[in-house]
Amino acid sequence: MTPELVRRMSAPVPRYTSYPTAPHFSAQVGAMEFGEGLRSLSPSQALSLYVHIPFCAQMCWYCGCNTKATRNTETIETYFQHLTTEILMVAALVPGDKPVAHIHWGGGSPNSLSADQIRRLGQTLHASFGIGAETEFAVEIDPRWLNSDQMAAFADIGVNRASIGVQDFNPRVQTAINRVQSVEMTERAVNGMRAAGVKGVNIDLVYGLPHQTEDSVANTIEEVIRLSPDRIALFGYAHLPSRAKHQTMIDETTLPGTMERYRQSRRAEQLLTDAGYVTVGLDHFAKPGDSLASGEIKRNFQGYTTDTAEALIGMGASSISQLPTGYYQNAVARADYERRVADTGLATVKGILLSDDDRMRARVIERLMCEFEFSKSSLQSAFGALAQPVIDKAEELVAADEEGLVERTADGFRVTELGQPFVRAIASCFDAYLGKGNSTFSAGV
Ligand SMILES: C[S@@+](CC[C@H](N)C(=O)[O-])C[C@H]1O[C@@H](n2cnc3c(N)ncnc32)[C@H](O)[C@@H]1O
Repeated sequence: MTPELVRRMSAPVPRYTSYPTAPHFSAQVGAMEFGEGLRSLSPSQALSLYVHIPFCAQMCWYCGCNTKATRNTETIETYFQHLTTEILMVAALVPGDKPVAHIHWGGGSPNSLSADQIRRLGQTLHASFGIGAETEFAVEIDPRWLNSDQMAAFADIGVNRASIGVQDFNPRVQTAINRVQSVEMTERAVNGMRAAGVKGVNIDLVYGLPHQTEDSVANTIEEVIRLSPDRIALFGYAHLPSRAKHQTMIDETTLPGTMERYRQSRRAEQLLTDAGYVTVGLDHFAKPGDSLASGEIKRNFQGYTTDTAEALIGMGASSISQLPTGYYQNAVARADYERRVADTGLATVKGILLSDDDRMRARVIERLMCEFEFSKSSLQSAFGALAQPVIDKAEELVAADEEGLVERTADGFRVTELGQPFVRAIASCFDAYLGKGNSTFSAGV
């Protein structure tokens, strides 16, 4: 792998947690269209729910998510009330029994909520949707601010997977990202959630952070392997200080370069696979018996998932819904979100209604991001002649490829093992929107 190739393939591109990607959402799609999208769901449609909690006790400088540092209980309760109103409104618009396959509480840190709020939010969801023992119910956790009452509350409302933020265990890196978190503290959260009855544990890590080296990443990975999570997400640090102002607190001269980032991700993958984890998609790892490692995977805003529900409903500030008809995003700023919910019960401010071409390309990009290949015949049987430009593009890429990153298969197109770290760049060749509008993306590796 030459540095020149790594640099070329690391040009900024979307992470493809959706297609079309969020920068192409338009203000012409609002609450009315979202309401129509919800009403048109089939009554037996399996649902997936995402609930956004945009608070953290303290800001991490690397953070790229929509969150604010606050410990003000009034601010949190006010948001909580509006969130409850929105959930009730959404549930009233969806026809039928509303069976829920997956729930994800993200943030921010859902454990910014008190144990009482966790229980009340759980009750609202249980009263509004069809949630049962088979529902996969995950929450993101910041282990630095987690108490035993909260752990018990999560278990009581049916949470069965905790996604625990770590990022890196090196003290120098932790100071530079304003997130000091010992291994012991993390272990207490992992063991505490397991003891409370939350059996599934994921750990989030990031490479490409300030002061990280291949060796420091390797040390963190070794500690994490010892904690034995079922799943690990290893994200490349997305440094976009023009979008996330607090990232300006990070001294850019301490950030690893492109080749170093590439080496960190390769070394981490090697250590995790040597320890028995299976690589899932671009940046996830799972134990061999875990459903993420053995079943069909899909890609959504949370990354890789086993969730096959065709309707993902996002609730809370900035959350995005993915319905068969299109994508719909809520107001990002909390005050705007709360005002809209108070006015109408919904807070959609932008979105996109999908054309058949969008659906066809979304399928190709998702299959590449998940399985590194797509089948020509299944694309043609689903989309007919519409699939031809994508099939031609794949032929063109294979013909132009001098490095062995992509190849033709008996029935389609595949990214080779060498090309897999660059799958975002390869997927972007099938993106009809790329270059339109003025969006900024993070490094491709
Ligand atoms: C929405 S955050 C919530 C995590 C939880 N609040 C915590 O701090 O422990 C989910 C994950 O996104 C990842 N993440 C956040 N900002 C990122 C960035 N700028 N680049 C790459 N990954 C990032 C981190 O691994 C983080 O744990």
